[in-house]
Amino acid sequence: WSPKYPFLRQEGLQAIRNLPDALIIGVKKGGTRALLEFLRLHPDVRAAGSEVHFFDRHYSKGIHWYRQQMPPTLEGQITMEKSPSYFVSRDVPQRVYHMNPAIKLLLVVRDPVTRAISDYAQVVSKNITLPKFEDLAFRNGSMFGLVDTSWIPIRIGVYVRHLERWLHYFPLRQFHFVSGERLIVDPAAEITQVQDFLGLKRIISEKHFYFNATKGFPCLKKSEGHSSPHCLGKTKGRSHPPIDPGVTERLREFYRPFNARFYQITGIHFGWP
Ligand code: A3P
Repeated sequence: WSPKYPFLRQEGLQAIRNLPDALIIGVKKGGTRALLEFLRLHPDVRAAGSEVHFFDRHYSKGIHWYRQQMPPTLEGQITMEKSPSYFVSRDVPQRVYHMNPAIKLLLVVRDPVTRAISDYAQVVSKNITLPKFEDLAFRNGSMFGLVDTSWIPIRIGVYVRHLERWLHYFPLRQFHFVSGERLIVDPAAEITQVQDFLGLKRIISEKHFYFNATKGFPCLKKSEGHSSPHCLGKTKGRSHPPIDPGVTERLREFYRPFNARFYQITGIHFGWP
């Protein structure tokens, strides 16, 4: 029993920390926090609150350290964590495979152009001296130049490349793909599919969400640790800087073949060009 959960002892239940059964591996700015917070409404889901980054940053600390980062669970509850950089980090698929080759993998994807702008908006919010988006997105700082695929916000959006690395280790059936766009428009429908994939009872439904017009996003009526309605924090749902439509058009053309291959492999058309 855990000293943090004295009632468990009374009931003779055992709370133990387990390694994760499922991971939200990405994608950064796809809606990973929303997905995790929505899933945490489920009584059979226990998740580490902050990003653990074991497989990319803290691997040398060892598996025992990793287990300690997980919340205590009771029998029948699943353990999860989300670290969005896992999806794009070279060594991570192999490391995850060594821990648990049967693990379930969740990936939230969003139009890679919007995702790149969202990523840029996050960086520029911490560094106002950052060059303009278009100066970073193209090799010679002009949209007539080549797209700079070494710029991380661009590179992350080539989803098919990253997915192919994961598919060397895990079959497609161990992945579940969440549409970042639909997670905003119809969170209950997306979460229903996730519950099914994770083998959870369908408990999270429309009645857990309401649309907050001020925030412009779905928010939660109540959740673990919150008895009142609440939205995700200010860093989720930022306004994006205005970008020249010619720039977004060039990027859409750049991503088009990668998106097409991603649709082909996943068998899902996400609706981006
Ligand atoms: P923006 O801030 O660009 O709008 P992540 O948690 O992976 O960093 O993703 C952040 C994105 O989650 C936000 O990007 C936002 O669009 C999206 N999102 C999805 N559902 C949301 C919700 N209910 N509240 C706030 N943001 C949400």
